[in-house]
Amino acid sequence: MSGQRIGVLTAGGDAPGLNAAIRAIVRVALAGGDVPVGILNGWLGLVEDDGHRELSTADISGVLPLGGTLLGSSRTSPIGELDGLVDGVARLSLDSLIAIGGDGTLTLAVALAARGVHVVGVPKTIDRDLAHTEVCLGFASALSVVTDALDRLHTTAASHHQVMVLETMGRDSGWLCALGGLAGGADLVCIPEFPRSIDELADRVHERRHAGKLSTIVAVAEGAVLEGVDEPPVPLDALGHPQFARRAIGERVAVALAERARVETRSAVLGHLQRGGSPVASDRLWASLLGEAAVRVARGGEQSAVAVRHGQVVTTTLEELTATRPLVPRSLYDLCSALG
Ligand code: F6P
Repeated sequence: MSGQRIGVLTAGGDAPGLNAAIRAIVRVALAGGDVPVGILNGWLGLVEDDGHRELSTADISGVLPLGGTLLGSSRTSPIGELDGLVDGVARLSLDSLIAIGGDGTLTLAVALAARGVHVVGVPKTIDRDLAHTEVCLGFASALSVVTDALDRLHTTAASHHQVMVLETMGRDSGWLCALGGLAGGADLVCIPEFPRSIDELADRVHERRHAGKLSTIVAVAEGAVLEGVDEPPVPLDALGHPQFARRAIGERVAVALAERARVETRSAVLGHLQRGGSPVASDRLWASLLGEAAVRVARGGEQSAVAVRHGQVVTTTLEELTATRPLVPRSLYDLCSALG
C-alpha cells in the first residue's frame, strides 16, 4: 500500500550518519509513493505546532557526508507526556514513525508502541550500548576520532617522555574507550565496567619506565571508576542523568598520577569532537541499508526495529534493542591490557 505518511525523527545526542539514514528513508519512501514527514528536534516536534515538515528530495540533497542531523535533535524525553505524543502522531496522520536513536529514544518508542503507535527503531549511539545489533550508527565514526587522537598524542608523549591522558565519551559503557584504545595503542585503559585505582595506574607507569618505555598513553572513559581520585558529586542534566563530562575525570587522573607516580602528565578531552564531522564510510553504508529496511518495516512489517547481525541487516523489535545494555567483556578488557 503506497501513500502512507511515514514520520522520521532523530532524538538524543547527535552522531555522524544520521543524515545518511534520513536521506535513505526519504528517497525510499518517495520512490514507493509514500510521504516522508520530518519531525523536528526529536520528540519535541510531535507536540509543537510547527514541529514537522514533509520532506522532499531537495531536503536531502548533498547531506550524505554531513555530520549532525538536518532534522535537529533534543534530549527531551517526554515519558510523562505520552498522550501528547500519541495525539501528535494522530494530528499529523502518521501511519508509522521511524525513530533513530539510542537507549533513551528507543525506550520511549517502546512506551509509545504500547499505546498503539507503529514505531520503527533504528539503532544510533556512539556509546554502542544497544543490545542485539552489531552496528549503532555513529560509533564507527567516533571510534576513528578516538584512534586519530591517540595517534597524535603518541608522538607528543614520546617526544616529551610524558604520561598523556585522553578522556573519551562513554557514560555507562566503555566500548568507545576500549576499542579506541586498542585501535590507537593506548597503554592503559580505564572504563566504567572495570574499576581501577590510581595506585595501580602509577605502578604500571613505573613498570613501563623501568622497561625503558618513558611515555605512557592512558585512555579514560568519562564514566570510568577510579579509586584514589578526589571528585565532587557529578551534576545532573535536565533529565536527571549524570553529566559525566563535568567530572573532568581525565584531568583528575592526570593530576593524581603526577602526584603518585612523580611523572609529568598532561590531559586532553575529546568531548563532542567525537560526535561531529563527516561519517566514515561504514556509517554511511549502514545508515543507507538500515534506513531502507526501516521504511520496509514502517510500510507494514510485523517488526518494530532494524539491526545488524552476522553482517546483515535484520528486522527485530524495539524490546530486543533496549532489553539489556551490552558491556565490555572481561576478555576484551584483558586484551587492552595485554596489548598496552
Ligand atoms: O549518549 C551519547 C553521549 O555522547 C554520551 O557518551 C555522553 O555522555 C553524552 O552523550 C553527552 O551528552 P550531551 O551532548 O548532552 O552533553
